[in-house]
Amino acid sequence: MHLCQSMMASKICDHLQLASAMTQLAIIYFSVTGTTEKLAQAVERGAAAIADVTLCRIGSDDIVSGRFQNETVLRTIDAANGVAFGSPTYMGGPSAQFKAFADASSDRWSKQNWANKIAAGFTTGTCPSGDQLHTLTYFTILAAQHGMLWCGLDVPGGEDPGGRNRLGSQLGLATHLIDGTLPQSDLNTAEYLGRRLAQVASRHVR
Ligand SMILES: Cc1cc2nc3c(=O)[nH]c(=O)nc-3n(C[C@H](O)[C@H](O)[C@H](O)COP(=O)(O)O)c2cc1C
Repeated sequence: MHLCQSMMASKICDHLQLASAMTQLAIIYFSVTGTTEKLAQAVERGAAAIADVTLCRIGSDDIVSGRFQNETVLRTIDAANGVAFGSPTYMGGPSAQFKAFADASSDRWSKQNWANKIAAGFTTGTCPSGDQLHTLTYFTILAAQHGMLWCGLDVPGGEDPGGRNRLGSQLGLATHLIDGTLPQSDLNTAEYLGRRLAQVASRHVR
């Protein structure tokens, strides 16, 4: 009985250790008309077999007097091994709401609390070349300020038989709407980016 109890306890303990060792990912994004949200959900689907994923959509209640104030989201990122940043491209850069989140991370920056986490990014726009690159570049600078390590897309544009990375952006996922719809190949690319982020983060747990 005692042995049995101790074996059971050890199995529970193993299970708990496995659970706590599982890679944690956070996807922090802003979306109004749902396109970036679809990308965020596809990133989640791609990562879910490898990591515990938390989707954090920046909501209007999170921003008070122009300041992002959702400490729960910031704590979710504190606990994550990898983070995906997502925002529509607005006027050639990330949305103001995403920037409000980034500005609220400055306390973490001063202590480099997010150093060595793996980061990736995705964005969308109306135009195929609507300055999405600038949004992705901003994400990389944010990641660098935090001492994070950037995970780009290792899919050469125009070379993938499945049509992933349609717009040929290897810094991160750039998409645009065709006749108001997100092409399936962009969703497939988002799933791939999520899987890659989870794989890289699981190999590089802090
Ligand atoms: C204020 C504003 C600025 C925008 N600026 C750009 C832009 O610079 N380049 C672009 O391609 N699309 C631009 N768009 C289009 C959005 O990126 C596009 O509608 C996107 O799908 C919105 O994402 P969401 O569906 O996740 O809200 C802009 C839209 C708005 C509302």
